Amino acid sequence: MCRVSGYIGKGDALPIIMEGLRRQGYGGYDSSGVLIGNGADLTCVRAVGKLENLEKKLENQTLKGNWGIGQIRWATHGGVTEANAHPHRDCKGNIFLVHNGIVENYQELKEKLIKKGHKFTSETDTEVLCHLIESFFQGNLEEATRKALRLVKGTYGLLIISKQDPEKIVAARLSSPLLIGTNDQDYIIASDPIAVAPYARKIIQLDDYEIATITLKDLFILKEKIPQVLELDLGVAEKGGYPHFMLKEIMEGPEAIENAIKGRLMIDDGSVKLGGLDNVQNKLREIKRLILVACGTSNFAARIGKYMLEEYAGIPTEVDIGSEFRYRKPILDKNTAVIFISQSGETADTLACLKEVKNKGILTLGITNVVGSSQTRETDAGIYTRSGPEIGVASTKSFLGQFTVLAMLMVYLGRQREMSLVTGKRIVSELSKIPDLAKKILSLTQKIEKLTEKYKDFQNFWFIGRKYNFPVALEGALKLKEISYLHAEGMAGGELKHGPLALINENFPTIAICPSDSVYEKMMSNIEEIKARGGPIIAVATEGNEKIKEIVDDVIYIPKTLEVLTPILSVIPFHLFAYYMGVLRGYDVDKPRNLAKSVTVE
Ligand code: AGP
Repeated sequence: MCRVSGYIGKGDALPIIMEGLRRQGYGGYDSSGVLIGNGADLTCVRAVGKLENLEKKLENQTLKGNWGIGQIRWATHGGVTEANAHPHRDCKGNIFLVHNGIVENYQELKEKLIKKGHKFTSETDTEVLCHLIESFFQGNLEEATRKALRLVKGTYGLLIISKQDPEKIVAARLSSPLLIGTNDQDYIIASDPIAVAPYARKIIQLDDYEIATITLKDLFILKEKIPQVLELDLGVAEKGGYPHFMLKEIMEGPEAIENAIKGRLMIDDGSVKLGGLDNVQNKLREIKRLILVACGTSNFAARIGKYMLEEYAGIPTEVDIGSEFRYRKPILDKNTAVIFISQSGETADTLACLKEVKNKGILTLGITNVVGSSQTRETDAGIYTRSGPEIGVASTKSFLGQFTVLAMLMVYLGRQREMSLVTGKRIVSELSKIPDLAKKILSLTQKIEKLTEKYKDFQNFWFIGRKYNFPVALEGALKLKEISYLHAEGMAGGELKHGPLALINENFPTIAICPSDSVYEKMMSNIEEIKARGGPIIAVATEGNEKIKEIVDDVIYIPKTLEVLTPILSVIPFHLFAYYMGVLRGYDVDKPRNLAKSVTVE
């Protein structure tokens, strides 16, 4: 930890830079140094030890000039010597800079530069930057800096100047804090706002990879876009031998779950590791309320999340759709965190809410599939679902990824609170088995294809479920609507008798999700209500439940698992049912009419 300070303007640079260093004194006291420019005349003074030693040295010197840089050092590389004090310089005495941070690959860069004839005068990692910029310098400092920093691994808050390109300070940031204070007269640069406060009321915080060019007249900030490695094998954009992306992505469901849990389940501790939350771990421990905001299928995942987080993490949880949350007046306070769920990370309704909540300074988390998407860049922290690219407009495997991440978040927050080791272990070990259980359901593909044959002439469908499977009923209905253009509605099983039952007759099938869980009996009474009105029933039930065959018309069996985890299994038949119904009815299941994969407009 070091601290830097810089100034360019109409005033006298030295006192302002020294005051900046004084105010950031906590940042290091192994050595310090300043460099003051008067036009292209540069004077550099450095001293070992506390800042006072530099002040003493400066007493007998007049460093007049209206621009300059300074630094106080906390040694990381190289002893506490004047040679290792900042500012450092290049071979020709043209490039000078001060640095707060660490150049992790400095050895490797230094060897290359020495081979090119560069002469080093210190043991520091920082000096490498001077010679690196020197190696690219052709008269324009910011140009040379940009090229040099592309080769640098590490962290930096940098102030760079050049004798041949005078009265200009280039400031660059990656991870180490760096800001520019400005008033009408001049620019004061520092690591900490405290250093500019006496001189400027407005500040610009530099973001990572931003490079600012500051002259007497102007300030120009450029964001260096670092190419990210595209972790994408070309095969994904291919159908991989499947007739449609939707079927391919349904078949990739188990793999999506595997990817979501890989390296995150800590079965012995009955807990999970979610690296993307490390920087907010302590804040999350204090959170007293959660709001989940999402649209479409992601919203249904959020609804299951609500049940999970309340039952197993004991946190009051609300769910809202983006387009409503945005325009209502949600009560938000410091004990609330808002979680945004989006496969694409680009859904306008959801992003608009995120911006709104951020403006209010509320903790924001993201559950996202697309790496680097807007949502991932805007939220304070987040968890990737790692479902891989999803090309088909219908969200299928990404729903499984979202559910899996929510289940892990439930354990993560639960174990921070009342959830016991035993409960944590039970859930985490069961979660590790889910990919294989999901594979078992995919072996029912042909059976489900036949089922759509049988039901292809019906125009209306109810999907019913209770508790964790109520949102799955909503998802099943949405999929059938968006893929086969049939009328379908999902609802809580207990709601039928409050009105919708009026529509039931032999032409109105119901798909009922009734795994052997805590609400099984209640679901069975709903099934009896439908049966009594002659409505055809397809049930999704737990393997081994032979009795249900006598009551309903068709049964799709899913393997037994914990009640809280059943949705990830019960939804798969619905994705297949919608797919085959869409294909059977001759529609383009990958690009359903009137829809788009990522809805980037409100
Ligand atoms: C679901 O199949 C649809 N594609 C749609 O409802 C989707 O879930 C919704 O637009 C939200 O998208 P997101 O997850 O990318 O934010």
